[in-house]
Amino acid sequence: MLVTGSILLCQLLMLLCPVYAGFYGSDTAVINLTPKTFKSEIYDTNYTSVVEFYAEWCGHCKNLRPHYTKAAKSLKGVAKVAAVRCDDDSNQPLCARYNVKGYPTLKLFRPNVKVPSSPLIEDYDGGRTAKAIVDTVLSKISNKVRRLKAEDVQPWIDESNVPKVLLFHNDANTPPMYKGLAIDYAGSINFGIVRKSEKLASKEYGVTKFPTIVIITTDEEGDHRHIYSGELKKEPLYEYLSAFGTPVEGTRAPKKQKKAKQASKPLQHEEL
Ligand SMILES: *[C@@H]1O[C@H](CO)[C@@H](O)[C@H](O)[C@H]1NC(C)=O
Repeated sequence: MLVTGSILLCQLLMLLCPVYAGFYGSDTAVINLTPKTFKSEIYDTNYTSVVEFYAEWCGHCKNLRPHYTKAAKSLKGVAKVAAVRCDDDSNQPLCARYNVKGYPTLKLFRPNVKVPSSPLIEDYDGGRTAKAIVDTVLSKISNKVRRLKAEDVQPWIDESNVPKVLLFHNDANTPPMYKGLAIDYAGSINFGIVRKSEKLASKEYGVTKFPTIVIITTDEEGDHRHIYSGELKKEPLYEYLSAFGTPVEGTRAPKKQKKAKQASKPLQHEEL
């Protein structure tokens, strides 16, 4: 009330007023959920999500806000960080359905590999810091990236006709960003990781620095290798890979028509 009142007042006085952007404004990476969007965002996805049920007046929610905002920023493109405002009447059915008794309540939604659109739901009882939330969520994300030994690489390529993305990495830990890309391109591009110590693989592909990303496509003439030379960040990689496959998820997935046009432009990669 106080906030609304003072905004009204400064609008009346025609002063430049700060716009109240909401508890989690569009300048944050937190997804604000409603009964209309909950299912598509949280159920129909291969992403793991954390959902906070909160009320704007609640003190613990205000304390959590900067941590939750920070967690959302660092999990962007890797997991979904979302919130339901329970002191908004239209969201009440959601808060009742998930049996929310106090604020904030945090729940984890993990995709069910056996039954699509039927996530496994559990309470989050961990620490209320960005780090604790991020670490817990990271431990729950699904990994569609195949870990390969040198001798597994060619059989993996021959397994299917879809393009492959092969990451040559220093160690065996798959970077979360890479797991996110594998979720975005599920069914369209297969992802594999081979570690530096698999020397025969890096020799075969002429890879001398780590990490290196090689995209492998197959046609009648055989396998073609393309070395990715752009920035090792999710956005540019997501963009680059749209020339090879169709993303099913991801922030800009709906703009498919634009993507198709971009894909027909000359590809900015070097062929090996
Ligand atoms: C989830 O992943 C599977 C392949 O693992 C894919 O077939 C399906 O389309 C994906 N679902 C969504 C909603 O992206």
